[in-house]
Amino acid sequence: MTQHLTVVNHPLIQHKLTLMREKDTSTAVFRQLLREISQLLAYEVTDQLPMTTRRIETPLQEMDAPALDGRKLALISILRAGNGLLDGMLELIPSARVGFVGLYRDEETLKPVQYYFKVPDHMDERLVIVVDPMLATGNSSAAAVDLLKQSGAKDIRFLCLLAAPEGVARMKEAHPDVPIVTASLDEKLNEVGYILPGLGDAGDRMFGTK
Ligand code: URA
Repeated sequence: MTQHLTVVNHPLIQHKLTLMREKDTSTAVFRQLLREISQLLAYEVTDQLPMTTRRIETPLQEMDAPALDGRKLALISILRAGNGLLDGMLELIPSARVGFVGLYRDEETLKPVQYYFKVPDHMDERLVIVVDPMLATGNSSAAAVDLLKQSGAKDIRFLCLLAAPEGVARMKEAHPDVPIVTASLDEKLNEVGYILPGLGDAGDRMFGTK
């Protein structure tokens, strides 16, 4: 993946995203759409995975058939909204390893503080896909990628549903080596850091909290 930002303009993704943005979409439908979109985005973010061949027997003859090479990839969910993207991706990539990063924002310093961090071993040998639906200011995303790099990760991609230009710029400055894949580059952030036009609070909408 060579581009820093890839916006996946597939019609199915764009149609489902419109349904998710609508304020009257129910929690159940929002969750289902997120699951479906995450699988379509997973398809895009896993292009160019290393391949090998495996000798197999079909009912008719032997062949060298294509198969994924190397260690299982690692999906890293940024809590809590990342879990909504994670579920669908795991259906498509059931043998992926999974990690979690929990960060909260210190109200005084406004800096992200880690409260949970658990990732698979051999991070340096895996493709690491970080999932978080909303790339807003980019501060927590950049901090999460810092932690992943400290744990050894070298080949990292960032997958989100919506990105704000501010978040993309922050990530490009902090982690120019981490490609971002998203369903939409929205207009901007509002004064409290929500993406406009956006879809509101992704965690609240997928978990039915307020
Ligand atoms: N997080 C959200 O859930 N929504 C936004 O718009 C920005 C950050």
